[in-house]
Amino acid sequence: MGTQALLETQNLSKRFGGLTAVHRVSLRLEPGEIRGVIGPNGSGKTTLVNLLSGLYDPTEGMIFFGGERIDRLRPNLRTARGMIRTFQIPKLFRHMTVLENMMVPALADSQQAHKTSIEEVEEKAWNLLRFVKLDHLARAQAADLSGGQAMLLQIARGFMIEPLKLYLMDEPFAGVNPVIKEVIMESILTMNREQGVTFLVVSHEMPTIRRLCQKISVMHEGAIIAEGGIEEVANDPLVIEAYLGS
Ligand SMILES: Nc1ncnc2c1ncn2[C@@H]1O[C@H](COP(=O)(O)OP(=O)(O)O)[C@@H](O)[C@H]1O
Ligand SMILES: [Mg+2]
Repeated sequence: MGTQALLETQNLSKRFGGLTAVHRVSLRLEPGEIRGVIGPNGSGKTTLVNLLSGLYDPTEGMIFFGGERIDRLRPNLRTARGMIRTFQIPKLFRHMTVLENMMVPALADSQQAHKTSIEEVEEKAWNLLRFVKLDHLARAQAADLSGGQAMLLQIARGFMIEPLKLYLMDEPFAGVNPVIKEVIMESILTMNREQGVTFLVVSHEMPTIRRLCQKISVMHEGAIIAEGGIEEVANDPLVIEAYLGS
């Protein structure tokens, strides 16, 4: 008997008309791991994140989170159970300040708002802004941030969620400068080590994935075609063919 997975999918599929974007994916994340997900463009990585986070209903299959089925729960109810995600294009409240953006999720979640005062929420927001080195921009409008800063804010905002168990990140390093990339990597590693947060990180960037993840899953045409350590997966003929063939 193994331990219980934090997240498990069984034969998860998503079709759009005749196109199968995700095909019978059975994925298992252990509590405390940082899993990398790679795959060529169009291989279904974002669709998988959309299914896990509840943006899409699966065509087939099941999703379990902490042993409980969640595949019919709305995204906000998944967040209430400790799952949050980032988008490839950050979704921010552009006409609010950075600090206000940080505070919205905690105040919008009635359960969390019930337990915490606005002062506590604001203090946590400041702490996290310092943690990701955005505190000097706390009073700036979100609309005025660079792409990398907006990604950082989006990521930091997810850390406001209590409890936070699983963080899904879709291409968090895309279009981000090396300095901010380093901050994102450090924040993932620190939250994992100190708070036990589990991560699923979709990224093309092998050096980054290599530093963050012990195990990666490779997608191709909607399916997971390989899983394992980075060297193992990089030498897998199916993976080489998926990348060279496309
Ligand atoms: N909402 C949608 N409607 C129709 N097709 C979609 C939709 N979302 C994704 N797809 C298609 O599903 C496939 C996988 O896309 P996606 O999950 O975005 O891949 P990746 O993130 O790996 O680049 C692509 O062929 C894409 O065009
Ligand atoms: Mg994508």
